[in-house]
Amino acid sequence: MATTATDLTDETPVVIVGAGQGGVQAAASLREGGFGGPITVVDGEPGLPYQRPPLSKAFLTGDGNRNLVDLRAEAFFDENVISLRSGQWVREIDRVASKVVLDSGEHLDYAHLILATGASPRILPVAGASQEGVVVLRTLSDASALRVVLPTQGLRIVIVGGGFIGLEVAAVAAKIGHQVTIVETLPRLMARAVSPELAGYVADVHRSHGTEILLGRRVVALPGKSGRVRAVELDDGTRIEADLVLVGIGAVPNTSLAEQADLEVANGIVVDDQLRTTDPAISAIGDCASFPSTHAACQARLESVQNAVDQARHVATRLLTGSTEPYRSVPWFWTTQFDLRLQMVGIPQDNDERIIHGDPSTGRFSVLRFHNGCLNTVESVNRPQDHVGGRKLLSANLNPTVEQLRQTEFKFDPRLYA
Ligand code: APR
Repeated sequence: MATTATDLTDETPVVIVGAGQGGVQAAASLREGGFGGPITVVDGEPGLPYQRPPLSKAFLTGDGNRNLVDLRAEAFFDENVISLRSGQWVREIDRVASKVVLDSGEHLDYAHLILATGASPRILPVAGASQEGVVVLRTLSDASALRVVLPTQGLRIVIVGGGFIGLEVAAVAAKIGHQVTIVETLPRLMARAVSPELAGYVADVHRSHGTEILLGRRVVALPGKSGRVRAVELDDGTRIEADLVLVGIGAVPNTSLAEQADLEVANGIVVDDQLRTTDPAISAIGDCASFPSTHAACQARLESVQNAVDQARHVATRLLTGSTEPYRSVPWFWTTQFDLRLQMVGIPQDNDERIIHGDPSTGRFSVLRFHNGCLNTVESVNRPQDHVGGRKLLSANLNPTVEQLRQTEFKFDPRLYA
């Protein structure tokens, strides 16, 4: 019989599905918090767990050193007696028997199960998308294949999707000297995550490096020859010759295990404010989880290292102490493109009011975004102090207003916003 959170003892096993940032952090936090029972982390990908952020940045041009992306050294798993079962997929969750079933047929008992199954790249639904030369970037294996191709100069590279992955790879490719074109369906870059002002600024920086950006256009076909992509065809009839097409059009949560187990799923595995699924013996964290966010004032699913790590810690604390605290961490994200370090804190809302601190022409400025008159997002370009200040203000629920921030240079001083 599966136990609920507080019933964990040094004899009861915890199984974690997924060895990304969230899954590995959950194992680490359980051990750090004194849990003495068996912990097994299962992941279908082979090898040691790795970090994803460098895969679309430094790893693509680095010397191929795996250490650059290692999440934890091998010794960490031995020293902490964490059984890492990599290269093994979980096929099924048997909630009645409290077991997971691996592809090999092996069963693992759990007293508590943590789903940290992540997300997968969205597939471009057009003819020719599965040809050679059409790639995505999510896994270490994807990145390793791309870094073999990228050193060859002068390729015509079309990037479908002007989000984080597309823009990070576009920056790397333009610096190497490739001819880069970005095709984005929405009228601006990174629309999901950043303001029009920041999106416009970033577009100008990419254009200044020779990259062509086509906004409001849709890819309708990927013509090829002998199984290899040759071009990208757009809805307005434009044809762009291409040696390589990178598709970065978003990620879909990996929910099939949860669906099979009859857990509630709606754009992610639905969890409550303590990150429990509809079965209290199963938690879900990170990219795969849809949780009630106080910052978005609705159910949200966030794809970021911060969210995965903080949710892992939250679940570990609940399991170890029985705490009923809701999950409330302030969400933050970052991306680097060329010399730009973009940092975002908060969850943007539509129809917001915005003010700019600093001078964009200096390459250092922040966009402060307000919802219902109160600060709810800070986007910073090479102004880490604003990002840190924004995190503190939003964490402390200090809700400064547009008027207050117009009058004061943006800084963290609670007395200014009392
Ligand atoms: N054609 C062109 N653009 C498209 C299409 C399409 N058919 N469909 C979606 N897009 C655009 C979206 O409008 C958005 O701007 O693709 C972009 C996808 O951006 P993200 O949502 O940021 O996703 P992606 O860049 O693929 O990153 C996936 O990896 O680094 C992480 O935080 C990132 O979790 C995210 C994930």
